[in-house]
Amino acid sequence: MSEIFEKFSKIGIVPVVVLDDAKDAEKLGEALVAGGLPCAEVTFRTDAALESIKIMAQNKDLLVGAGTVLSIEQVDKAVNAGAKFIVSPGLNPKVVKYCVDNNIPITPGTQTPSEMEQALELGLKVVKFFPAEPAGGLNMIKAVAAPYTQLKFIPTGGFNSKNVRDYLMYDRILACGGSWMVKKDLIAASQWDKIKSMVKEAAEIVKEMRG
Ligand code: 3PG
Repeated sequence: MSEIFEKFSKIGIVPVVVLDDAKDAEKLGEALVAGGLPCAEVTFRTDAALESIKIMAQNKDLLVGAGTVLSIEQVDKAVNAGAKFIVSPGLNPKVVKYCVDNNIPITPGTQTPSEMEQALELGLKVVKFFPAEPAGGLNMIKAVAAPYTQLKFIPTGGFNSKNVRDYLMYDRILACGGSWMVKKDLIAASQWDKIKSMVKEAAEIVKEMRG
């Protein structure tokens, strides 16, 4: 398994970040490291994403990647900015193939057996399951995981400090992704201590569930 996926597994919860202003990137990165989830999926949903990745990538304790990546062009921009992994909401075969060919870790969003088979065909061993809660949750993952014994999952979407627990216990789940500990309003209000304590709470859940 790639080194990045080993890190995901160890960290357990990948914070999904939407930054409206790159001035918040450094402080947010520090809060993630201090709270015990030293990782950020910075989503390409705002104009500040690229600059935020650049800033966060300077923090050597932080594993930074790009989320909501929809094109090869965005993959290049993200990687040039310092992103170490790529996440997408769906499975775009062109984007996945480009990443695989260039040794860039990518977890595309999947939901159905057909999408999972496509991921396997493209050479992946880890996929995102998105949006996890609305798409059937842990029961659905267990059902679709059964035939694909070589595949691991990063469910993302709809998690909080309560419903994420059972997912972390299932051995086919590498890590979970979520934004509840890095809420936009807290970032906008520079509530770094509050964010740090919510990150810490999430890191403690990983410890409690996975030992
Ligand atoms: C997303 O794409 O926004 C992620 O899946 C995070 O989902 P969440 O905000 O429900 O945690």
